[in-house]
Amino acid sequence: MGLLDGKVAVVTGGASGIGQATARRFAAEGASVVVADRAADAGEVAAKEIDGRFVAGDVGEPETWEAIVATAEDAFGGLDIAYLNAGVTTGEGNIAALTDKQYRRIMRANVDGVVFGARAVIPPIAKRGGGAIVATASLAGLIAFPPDPIYNMTKHAVVGFIRGIAPQLQAQGITANCVCPGIVATGLVNDEARTRLESAGFVLIEPEEIAAAVLECVTGTATGQAVVCQAGRDPLAYEFRDVPGPRQGQQRDFRAIGMDQ
Ligand SMILES: NC(=O)c1ccc[n+]([C@@H]2O[C@H](COP(=O)([O-])OP(=O)(O)OC[C@H]3O[C@@H](n4cnc5c(N)ncnc54)[C@H](O)[C@@H]3O)[C@@H](O)[C@H]2O)c1
Repeated sequence: MGLLDGKVAVVTGGASGIGQATARRFAAEGASVVVADRAADAGEVAAKEIDGRFVAGDVGEPETWEAIVATAEDAFGGLDIAYLNAGVTTGEGNIAALTDKQYRRIMRANVDGVVFGARAVIPPIAKRGGGAIVATASLAGLIAFPPDPIYNMTKHAVVGFIRGIAPQLQAQGITANCVCPGIVATGLVNDEARTRLESAGFVLIEPEEIAAAVLECVTGTATGQAVVCQAGRDPLAYEFRDVPGPRQGQQRDFRAIGMDQ
């Protein structure tokens, strides 16, 4: 018996790295998987390997999401799980040199892809009586990351979005969490960066470890969490501090007056 027997999942950025490892893990647990990626050849191969379906496209385009949901419904009868994982870096640490193209590209993948993805998958998941949404943020969604401030900003956006939507999805039985990995051994970290990091003593995490953390999010009941994944440590839900000021416990106040709905 797999943990995801009978479930249908979509994994974006599933052609490589963390997404591919998670698509494989979902399939090994019995799920039917729709792999979505803009990398058409690698995506086809990744989907075929796990008897899944592949949708080629940019996750920042709403049409891609129409195709993803239609594929899940036509091929597998619905959707239970969405792993919103596709993402890029800018490759530009110097804001004064940032090009419009670099900026639009990362916003489309890291922010639009998560927002349009959540918007598209909530109705089909709700139709099945509930399920799970997980997004890939990053440690850079919780701490300062000066080598790529725009990446830093997009990952903070993912954390904020997930924490913001989680309460409103509870009534539909949908959990919403994000994972916040440290540095993972994938194509996103090029050979030169990997050598520099390793010689500075950084330990890279294997993508399979992130897949295991995602599986925990999907099978658990917790929601609104940012799960920190670091080498050599068990995944851990980040504990946000309350904001000091005139109104302590503001989140609770929002709930009390119904503004979290
Ligand atoms: N590798 C790390 O150190 C690390 C750390 C923390 C978070 N992350 C995040 O993990 C996620 C996965 O990255 P990875 O490390 O597996 O890298 P990766 O490059 O191996 O995989 C990313 C995949 O996303 C796809 N993709 C990118 N933009 C897309 C778009 N607009 N539409 C459709 N597909 C798109 C790529 O084609 C690729 O297959 C990203 O969101 C990344 O920011 C990575």
